[in-house]
This record gives sequence, structure tokens and C-alpha cells, in this order.
Amino acid sequence: MRDFIQSLPKAELHVHLEGTFEPEHIFAMAARNGIDLGYESPEAIVAAYDFYDLPSFLTFYYKAMHALQTEQDFYELTYAYFEKAKADNIVYVEPFFDPQGHTSRGVAFETIISGIHRAQADARTNLGIESNLIMCFLRDMSAESAMEHLLMSLPFKEWIIGVGLDSDEKDNPPLKFAEVFQRARAEGYKLTMHCDVNQKDILGHMWECLNEIQVDRIDHGVNSLEDPSLCEEIAKRGLGLTVCPVSNNFVVQTYTTDEIRKMLQLGMKATVNSDDPAYFRAYLTDNFVALAEHGEFTQAEITQLVKNAFEVSWLSEADIAEHLAAVNAAA
Ligand code: HPA
Ligand code: ZN
Repeated sequence: MRDFIQSLPKAELHVHLEGTFEPEHIFAMAARNGIDLGYESPEAIVAAYDFYDLPSFLTFYYKAMHALQTEQDFYELTYAYFEKAKADNIVYVEPFFDPQGHTSRGVAFETIISGIHRAQADARTNLGIESNLIMCFLRDMSAESAMEHLLMSLPFKEWIIGVGLDSDEKDNPPLKFAEVFQRARAEGYKLTMHCDVNQKDILGHMWECLNEIQVDRIDHGVNSLEDPSLCEEIAKRGLGLTVCPVSNNFVVQTYTTDEIRKMLQLGMKATVNSDDPAYFRAYLTDNFVALAEHGEFTQAEITQLVKNAFEVSWLSEADIAEHLAAVNAAA
């Protein structure tokens, strides 16, 4: 099964670049930049990982970001992810980045995006991996801060395909950012938002995403299965759901295999993704293998999930058709 999964050309639509920061790189970059994170070795960083819910993960995730300072740091972070992606036979990525996690520490927006963009260009040339960047707003920060960052991004609009919403969802509903997302759409950005698993008010948040924000995709969205009319609406609109099984197992202690299977049965465009692979110790192929191991997913189901990711990607119809043909040839 691992060989079969590996052999399929794949797309990844839900991966936080800062969540691909491997302990060896955190350690080396912190040392290079003279930042003391309080760890004596990469092993000490791994030993400190203790994630059992979203906040416990986010605390560590934001702490490690302090090691990222220069354009070269953002380049190396991003390029290292693309090398992992290459090893997994990923051919297309729509990665997230969290500018507010960096500007809040005094790093310039241009520094962040220039390093990421240069790595995307090199990955295209050297590794044959295409990518389109998604800028996320931190929902536990203010709507004003999100709007400031949206405006900051406009000179780099050509380098960004869409905007997302991440960080702690509790008491930070989609509607808090209605104006920001409306402006983002007017600027030509695609829209997605995290609807994290088992969050407070999650069904209300999902309806806000659909009706008020009018998102083009939903990140996670597993709880939609609790509301048949929500499922129906998601299926009708052909909205993609970027589910992350291993991440879910860390934050809510289930790989959500039953939910993913159910989405496929209901004609919902579920996809499989890695979220924060360096922290959850599982890249994309590992996430599919987890489905096979914990949910007895068949090759046909895996193939459908892989195809869904290309179908709900923000590539052109022609590019999507080309990728689907390549999946069919490999499956
Ligand atoms: N959930 C919400 N916000 C995040 C995550 C996540 O898994 N990873 C990075 N930011
Ligand atoms: Zn995420």
C-alpha cells in the first residue's frame, strides 16, 4: 500500500510552511541567528513535543518561529519542505504561511514572502513542483491586524493565490473577519478558512463560511457530517475539504477515518493533507498510509482522495485535467 500511495502523483492543499520546520533546522537556525530557544540539541526539541490539543501545539509552533529571521531562513524552510514533497511524489502544493507570526516579531513582510517565493521558483526549476501560496490570518489576533496584513500583501499580489484563516478558533468565528475576506475577494484572492475539528460552535462557523464568507474551500471541516443539510450544501457546491488525519489524531485523538470515508460516500470532495508534518512527524504519504492502516482504505478510495485534491485545487481546468490523467495512468 505504501508503494502504491507513493507512486501516485499527488497534490497537497493544507500544509503550514511553519509547520514543516524540522527540529534540526529549528536548532541550526536559532544557533545561526543567536536566538536562545532553551534547547541543547535537536533531540531536546523533539523531547519537548507534547501535543494533545490545538493550543498545546500552537504554543510550540509560535515559539519555534523565533528562529526564522532572514530572507534566507524563509527560503531554506520552504525549500526543505519542497524536498520532502519531492520524496513523496507531490507535484503540486498550495502552502500556507502565517505572516503575523513573523511581523509581530519585527520581521518585514517583504523578507518573509521574498524567501518563500524564491524557494517556490527554485522548486519549480529544480524539482518540478508547482505551487501557489496562501496567506493565512491568525484568527486570535484582531480583524484590524488582518486587514493591515491584507493591505501589506497587495504589492505582492501576483505571488499569492488566496487567503486563509488559522490559529485558535475558539471564540474567533469567521464573521470576525467578514470585511477582510470580502476585500480579499475583491482583490482577486481565493478564500479558505480552517473549521477545526470539534471546536466550540463549529457547525455555526461552517455555515458562516458558506453563507456569509462564501469560501472557495474549507480546511478540515470534519464536523460537517453532524449536519446533513451542511453536507448536502458542501457536496452541491463541490467545495473541497482539506482533512489532515494524523494532525487530527494529535489534537482530537482520532484519525477521522470514518468521517473521511463518509464524505466520499456523500460525494463531498474530501482530500488528505499533512497540516504540520514536522511536528506531527508525518508527511503526506504517511497520512495516506495512516488511513490505510487505521481505516482499511482501499486503493480505489485512496485514488479518489488524490484526484479530489487536484479537482478542488486552484489550478486552471487544463492543468487539473493534465494532473488527473497522470493519476489515472499511475493508479
Ligand atoms: N490549526 C490551526 N491553526 C494552525 C494549525 C492547525 O493545525 N497549524 C498551524 N496553524
Ligand atoms: Zn491547518
